[in-house]
Amino acid sequence: MSTRGTIKNGLRKRLAAVSALAMGAALAVAVPATPASAAATARVDNPYVGATAYVNPDWSAKAAAEPGGAAIANTPAFVWMDRIAAITGSSEARGLRAHLDTALAQGANLFQVVIYDLPGRDCAALASNGELGPTELGRYESEYIDPIADILADPAYASLRIVTIIEPDSLPNIVTNAGGTAGSTDACATMKANGNYEKGVGYALHTLGAIPNVYNYIDAAHHGWLGWDSNMSPAAAEFKKAATSEGATVNDVAGFIVNTANYSALKEPNFKVTDSVNGTTVRQSKWVDWNYYVDELSFAQALRTLLVSQGFNSNIGMLIDTARNGWGGSARPTAAGPTTSVDAYVDGGRVDRRIHAGNWCNQSGAGIGERPTAAPEAGIDAYVWAKPPGESDGNSAPVANDEGKGFDRMCDPTYTGNGRNGNSMTGALPNSPLAGHWFSAQFQELVRNAYPPITGGGTGTDTTAPSAPTGLTSSAKTSSSVSLSWTASTDNTAVTGYDIFRAGVKVGSSTTTSYTDTGL
Ligand code: BGC
Repeated sequence: MSTRGTIKNGLRKRLAAVSALAMGAALAVAVPATPASAAATARVDNPYVGATAYVNPDWSAKAAAEPGGAAIANTPAFVWMDRIAAITGSSEARGLRAHLDTALAQGANLFQVVIYDLPGRDCAALASNGELGPTELGRYESEYIDPIADILADPAYASLRIVTIIEPDSLPNIVTNAGGTAGSTDACATMKANGNYEKGVGYALHTLGAIPNVYNYIDAAHHGWLGWDSNMSPAAAEFKKAATSEGATVNDVAGFIVNTANYSALKEPNFKVTDSVNGTTVRQSKWVDWNYYVDELSFAQALRTLLVSQGFNSNIGMLIDTARNGWGGSARPTAAGPTTSVDAYVDGGRVDRRIHAGNWCNQSGAGIGERPTAAPEAGIDAYVWAKPPGESDGNSAPVANDEGKGFDRMCDPTYTGNGRNGNSMTGALPNSPLAGHWFSAQFQELVRNAYPPITGGGTGTDTTAPSAPTGLTSSAKTSSSVSLSWTASTDNTAVTGYDIFRAGVKVGSSTTTSYTDTGL
């Protein structure tokens, strides 16, 4: 308790100093200009507008080392504080301060961090069970949230807009998995009964929300979890309850994020939830299963409206994690399926190729989604990369570890499922490492199946020769060019253009008999 008091007092003093500086600058013209790094910036409506986000060099190096990875290695993604030790870091992983210092050195003005260490974490699954037991709320507050707040409140970082994601999956688990449903677990029932998810979230919102340049976004699962009315309304009430506990208020909430670390498609372009086939609505298809939403964009926008009606501020914005919901590649449908049945129509047209929308671990066939974009649609603050592509969701077989991570069979491609995924196969990739560890095969698959496709893969270091398109003959290749020939009588006479791939990644297209990658 005393440590907690000390840290919080330190934080309060620093905050007081920052606002005194800001007021001084505003009231007295004669006061020397406040250095940019120490200036307290007033919160803006959408922190992503006009922002340059921090690129984590540690993730970037891993991505760049993979075939095809160079083209996306400079993409900003969230840094995860997934255990107490992540705050200080180690010889292998940069700590929070080191990340923030690197962000300043990069000239960034936006920093994104996931707050992920609640007591009894990941109660409906095992792969990301954490270090704190169900009753360790005190440690969460004093050893995790307070030290993070202490660092984020350092005036050295006042020029950064700091976006937080608050505790993925936690409150949604209280809504749907804490008793009375097929997906319920004892662990979630415990967390509902002791209230420590709500108290932890409230404490995090209140403590981090006291820092003027922090923007808190609460995790709100995804459409395939909360998209039914019977889940969505209780979820909104649960968010409100947590956001007004432990001293937090709705003013501590900048918005919500959907699809964190999940694979739900941003948009299903080939059918609408209001379509019907031979008099049967799409909602009755096996895939949609009476859900009111078929994709993340429509879900996020509707949830935002509901949350405002429940008392959250009218200017809240939504984030959508688009790191791994691209669903491109050759299996991507371009039209709805046949109208022989509603299932044929939906299954033939859906871009989300999962076996079941409840599958969440290292999904086979998934691709990188939209690159981070500010204010892409009404009500959406940004498309972001919350889960850094290439980091595993969980291990496909038991692995001894000291990270508190269990073996969840949803990560095992041979498992036949449970109530939460309609007793389907899991669709998980084989041979995956522990959650958060680098999974090279998955990264490469995500790059191959990116949507929008990744183009311009040249980096100056990628010396893989471009490959000749199928059916065409290459007479000469260098590391950056390929010459092609074809015979109209035996090859496809309709060839008028073709795509060029380098290590499985589309780098461009051509309509002539030669191609040079100008991206090199
Ligand atoms: C893991 C964390 C990891 C995060 C980002 C989570 O599933 O439990 O350890 O930091 O994913 O990859």
